Amino acid sequence: MILSIESSCDDSAIAITEIATNKLLFHKKISQEIEHSVYGGVVPELAARLHAEALPKILEQVEEYFPKIKAVAVTSTPGLAVTLVEGVTMAKAVAVALDIPIIGVNHLIGHIYSLFIEKETIFPMTVLLVSGGHTQVMEVKSLTEIETVAKSMDDSFGESFDKVAKMMGLGYPGGPAIQELAQNGDRLKHNFTVPLHQSPLIAFSYSGLKNAVRLAVLEEEKKEKPNFQDIAASFEHIATKHLTMKLKKYFKTVRPRTFAIVGGASANLYLREQIEELLLPYSAELLLSELKYCSDNAAMIGRVGVDMYKQGMFSTLEELDIAPRSVL
Ligand code: KG4
Ligand code: ZN
Repeated sequence: MILSIESSCDDSAIAITEIATNKLLFHKKISQEIEHSVYGGVVPELAARLHAEALPKILEQVEEYFPKIKAVAVTSTPGLAVTLVEGVTMAKAVAVALDIPIIGVNHLIGHIYSLFIEKETIFPMTVLLVSGGHTQVMEVKSLTEIETVAKSMDDSFGESFDKVAKMMGLGYPGGPAIQELAQNGDRLKHNFTVPLHQSPLIAFSYSGLKNAVRLAVLEEEKKEKPNFQDIAASFEHIATKHLTMKLKKYFKTVRPRTFAIVGGASANLYLREQIEELLLPYSAELLLSELKYCSDNAAMIGRVGVDMYKQGMFSTLEELDIAPRSVL
């Protein structure tokens, strides 16, 4: 079995995955959304302190598996430095105590592998990763052959939802709150400009849209009874249209066959619907993670751990260090 640990942002999670079958034997996650909500975003030092409380509590619950654990897999990159350290330190302690090897997992590969929890892998495929920290398109041929072909130049897709929600006083995380508010709104009411729509670049940018939304929110706040649902709906529409327009451009050179959306924001239903529509003319297959595995979790880290274990991709205790920035 593989014991896996995730602490790259505001979720403390531990999983146990059976190597021979990919079966998820245990998974527990303690989220810190309520604690960060009052600040409208994740406060790194608070997150680190909460991991230090939560991770040992979860670890206690998996002691019965200890004799069968063959390796410990832990998210070591990318993420918040002070929170990554919590998981990596625990992983090193477990590796020493159980005398087993350690595997440093890239969180972004973890999100890709959220598609394969309790399943076999499917390669090659084109992947759109939309999370709080990243917005990127990758060509994935295998665990070790991943090429990033487009990424955000500033804010990420999920982050823009968080920031817009903060402007509207909706707390953190913003994605689900905006999605709900947008449901009954008019998507065409606010004619926000689609980012980079005149640029030939296949890249993403959300800072301009965020600022346009800020102005609309300020305008709405002047009203006696401000109602943000049309702004939320129009924002969600344009944020998504930006992705689909750039993907359409990309598909002119690389026709999609198997396409996947992963990451916390891949739970967004409007995005799922629009991508489904985009893929229709190509008869491409759309892969999605189960909703419960879209956001950060340790099951996806464990699933990567299984494949890295099989390929002998271990680190020494001295080698394994955290790297806050992505290397993909
Ligand atoms: O993957 P994740 O859990 O953490 C990172 O690796 O960043 O993603 C969290 C992000 C947050 O920005 C959150 O607002 C966004 O995913 N998110 C959504 C939805 N659910 C979560 N964004 C849009 N629509 C949603 N339904
Ligand atoms: Zn994530």
